[in-house]
Amino acid sequence: MAKTALIAAVVVIVVIIAGVAAYYAVHKSKGEKCIRVGTSPDFPPFEYVAKNGSIVGFDMDLIKLALHKAGYKCVKIVSMDFDSLIPALQQGKIDVIAAGMTITPEREKVVAFTIPYWEVDQAVIVSKTSNFRPAKLEDLAGKTVGVETGTTASDYLKKYVKEHKVDIKIKEYSSYVLAVQDLVNGRIDAVMLDVPVAKMFTKKYPVIIAFVVKTGEKYGFAVRKNDTELLNKLNTALKEIMNSPEWNKLVEKYFGS
Ligand code: ARG
Repeated sequence: MAKTALIAAVVVIVVIIAGVAAYYAVHKSKGEKCIRVGTSPDFPPFEYVAKNGSIVGFDMDLIKLALHKAGYKCVKIVSMDFDSLIPALQQGKIDVIAAGMTITPEREKVVAFTIPYWEVDQAVIVSKTSNFRPAKLEDLAGKTVGVETGTTASDYLKKYVKEHKVDIKIKEYSSYVLAVQDLVNGRIDAVMLDVPVAKMFTKKYPVIIAFVVKTGEKYGFAVRKNDTELLNKLNTALKEIMNSPEWNKLVEKYFGS
């Protein structure tokens, strides 16, 4: 009888200790939770793969700086195709999108954006070695234009084709790097993409900017709609950074010269 009582007492104590340990394990890991930042690193100078294989760029530096300022110590970069970013955020696979993502009303229906941190227009680039020199969208009639899937360039072109009933063939790529490679190899006639990125590609590949379409897009970082705490902290940190010399340093690092 005494033996049974002892065993029962031991079991109760073990269960209590296990429960307390589990409680602390969960709460500790919660406090040290890593923020997972999703990006599509085919978009220099905002995000790209460096020679040593690491993912770097203006967005990467800025989001890390902002998250650290906001008190998040552990930041992990997760790479995926651009059009997988919003689904991944919604499914909880990542916590923030930092991908030169334009703030649009359609996207705002499903994610929450920070304050804008950059503004761009769209460029149409062509191969230097071809003699194709379009000056406006109409000149792309009968041609094949590459875009990255899920981008504003893709939406813009599709809408233009529909509204103006012009025969522009739109070829979608999982990555802008692949689109530009096809352009260089003569498999497509043009690529439409954000101006600063187009400029970077002209430095690395034999391509030139043929013309620019003013779209006045603004980039923001995105979080889940219910992540208000993260959103507020990021906005505070971004405002602080953008008003400090750190901002000029960052701009100089990626856009200087
Ligand atoms: N700004 C454009 C958009 O939001 C293109 C962004 C592409 N970004 C990238 N990391 N590949 O649709």
